[in-house]
Amino acid sequence: MDVAARPARSPNAPTEERVLSVRHFTDRMFSFRITRPQAFRFRSGEFVMIGLEGDGGKPLLRAYSIASPSWDEELEFFSIKAPNGPLTSRLQLIRPGDTVLLGRKSVGTLVHDALTPGERLYLFSTGTGVAPFASIVRDPETYERFSQIVLTHTCREAGELAYAQEIVSSLAEDPLVGELSRGRLIHYTTVTREPWPNQERITSCIRSGRLFDEIGAPRLNPQTDRVMICGSLDMLNDTRALVEAAGLSEGSNASPAQFVVEKAFVG
Ligand code: A2P
Repeated sequence: MDVAARPARSPNAPTEERVLSVRHFTDRMFSFRITRPQAFRFRSGEFVMIGLEGDGGKPLLRAYSIASPSWDEELEFFSIKAPNGPLTSRLQLIRPGDTVLLGRKSVGTLVHDALTPGERLYLFSTGTGVAPFASIVRDPETYERFSQIVLTHTCREAGELAYAQEIVSSLAEDPLVGELSRGRLIHYTTVTREPWPNQERITSCIRSGRLFDEIGAPRLNPQTDRVMICGSLDMLNDTRALVEAAGLSEGSNASPAQFVVEKAFVG
């Protein structure tokens, strides 16, 4: 029997989805793809509750950014393996054919609707915070709204960059955004705990101007630049302070403005 087609217990209960594939990138990070119910709609950049059946039949759920674009027939997620995380310590063991619980409603602020129009879109991420941006860079709307997209990804180790590196390189062959993204998407990577051409945190690259010098862009400007930020709480706070110091103001779905932030979830 198709697990994805099984009726849920109540109208708001998570649906049961089938794991289609799992990839382990490092001992700290993995990605997986699951079936997508036909009725499940989301905007690129949003998150949803994901989980497993817990002890006593109570679902154990955590918020996860959807890493696949909104047009994809499957759903993709990029996850940390938190050694003591109640969910990820179990979730990292899933295999194709297993069942994962999927919440019915997606939400989030890392969406185009929360930003006013601009010319250049900065996507600042650390660790698994790149997940919502993996969705956004695969969405044609991103290239319709902005003339240049700068995706920055900072990780502790180089191996943790591989997930996003593969997505960015596969864009060239992508029938939907291949043409649109050509020469307009810059992928700027930094690694903090092992040798890499750029071994600084993104905050220090913004502060010193190194980021802008290396990509050939002017300093952050509220007239032209829009920013989305996703990482740990400390990273959000530090990056937000720099973006605000450049004169950008924070937006939301209800009140779009020049930058938006969201915590990369762990657990
Ligand atoms: P660092 O190695 O200097 O701590 P984590 O996996 O802990 O979330 O970290 C992911 C990446 O984010 C690491 O490269 C880490 O650098 C960096 N990072 C951690 N805290 C901050 C911060 N407050 N501002 C910018 N980058 C940060």
